[in-house]
Amino acid sequence: PRSIWLSRHGESEYNLGGQIGGDADLSERGHRYAKLLPELVRKSVGDDRPLTVWTSTLKRTIQTARFLPKDYNQLQWKALDELDSGVCDGMTYAEIKEAYPEDFAARDDDKYNYRYRGGESYRDVVIRLEPIIMELERSEDILIVTHQAVLRCIYAYFMKKDQKLSPWLNVPLHTLIKLTPRAYGTIEEFTSSGI
Ligand code: F6P
Repeated sequence: PRSIWLSRHGESEYNLGGQIGGDADLSERGHRYAKLLPELVRKSVGDDRPLTVWTSTLKRTIQTARFLPKDYNQLQWKALDELDSGVCDGMTYAEIKEAYPEDFAARDDDKYNYRYRGGESYRDVVIRLEPIIMELERSEDILIVTHQAVLRCIYAYFMKKDQKLSPWLNVPLHTLIKLTPRAYGTIEEFTSSGI
């Protein structure tokens, strides 16, 4: 049966500083994950099963995928970019709370529906992922390297969880997730890179 492999990008410079959004490079640890990823994938996928790799258009996902075998087709999707945090892009949560206290409280109240000023909500992300999900449903083996919020929504879809829960799902860094959809439900397998 076909499977879908999911990974967050390696740790970025923004992750280190607690900043959200942006288009930062990977941190040193993130680069280390990128180098470990081909072996992590090979162990999980096997040797003679070429994958198609999808990334977002942001540097941190492209950098994470760059050491994967050359014969893997790679495709960049704008629809896989991280949830757009609008005017809060590049800020830390503490800075957002300080600058936009009402927004901060509103997001806490209803994280699924809260839309950043000039940006997106989780609900918006779920809608923009529809073409991705449709394409995934009719694809062979795929590896997706993307961002926390986006992965939460894709994971919720395949695990048949209520999308309204996606903002709180735990999608760990530096971990490869294998999802195998079956008639009775999706089988999941997590492999940590150990870094
Ligand atoms: O901090 C990394 C990040 O991917 C941000 O770019 C993004 O805004 C955030 O996680 C999404 O997580 P949450 O919805 O929990 O703030």
